[in-house]
Amino acid sequence: MRGCPVPMPAPRPSVITRLRAAGCVFAEDEARLLGAAAATPDELDALVERRVSGLPLEHILGWVEFCGLRIEVDAGVFVPRRRTGFLVQQAARLLAGTGRPRPAPVVVDLCCGSGAVGAALAALSGPLELHAADIDPAAVRCAVRNIVPLAGAVHEGDLYEPLPARLRGRVDVLAVNAPCVPSAEIGTLPQEARLHEPRVSLDGGTDGLQVQQRVAAAALEWLAPGGHLLVETSRRQASRTVELFIRNGLTARVSSSGALDATVVIGTAVVGATAVPADPA
Ligand SMILES: C[S@@+](CC[C@H](N)C(=O)[O-])C[C@H]1O[C@@H](n2cnc3c(N)ncnc32)[C@H](O)[C@@H]1O
Repeated sequence: MRGCPVPMPAPRPSVITRLRAAGCVFAEDEARLLGAAAATPDELDALVERRVSGLPLEHILGWVEFCGLRIEVDAGVFVPRRRTGFLVQQAARLLAGTGRPRPAPVVVDLCCGSGAVGAALAALSGPLELHAADIDPAAVRCAVRNIVPLAGAVHEGDLYEPLPARLRGRVDVLAVNAPCVPSAEIGTLPQEARLHEPRVSLDGGTDGLQVQQRVAAAALEWLAPGGHLLVETSRRQASRTVELFIRNGLTARVSSSGALDATVVIGTAVVGATAVPADPA
């Protein structure tokens, strides 16, 4: 993870033409980025060939710009989306408002993928006690490169299971962008996601909410009193994400950004709250 350098060589017209013909909407920008990544004309040709064959630009470059940072992202790892910057903004706002006397609030980036959310929060709101976790070893390898230089820790395993037990009841901000595509809709995703991002990063089960449900169910155990859970969701799913929060003893409000086409549900662990028992089947 590094800050983004700005100057780049002018893109080659022939590269722009090839990219445009392959359907790349931002062909000029992509040509500039690929040109900067290639050391020789042959290398540029090979990079363009990979892009034209459908590989995501970020997997070819090995990085993505996210919240002004250069986040490393390997092939086979979920590419952080621009809209997730809204989750970061909302979490940073809450961290600024905690007014807690402790010098380093505890922040967990659960389902961290490349670790983009945690890294951006560390850059915006540090110093933090930052932990990130993911079930996918490839994502964890990437997150280590993005998070460890910021003094964060990365854990591998299923949701909360790999987190250090000493974090129970101490987490100030739990920021989560979990897989949330209904299983039956995976086939309708754009090719770049469908073919080049792992299913575990996309598939949210039958209703798309199964991972969110498990996140919400255990959140009270991990949040500090007054701590916050933030889950990125969609406009379509927001009301059901809210229900999950309330059922599990959290307050919930929806925050949206039209500019980023982003929706986040934000909850707070109210002191003395308990989860509502599930309805009998
Ligand atoms: C939509 S991607 C988001 C990645 C990252 N938060 C971001 O915004 O770029 C979801 C991530 O959740 C991870 N994941 C899926 N199921 C998980 C589970 N049970 N426990 C931990 N991580 C999980 C996937 O491996 C993937 O990296």
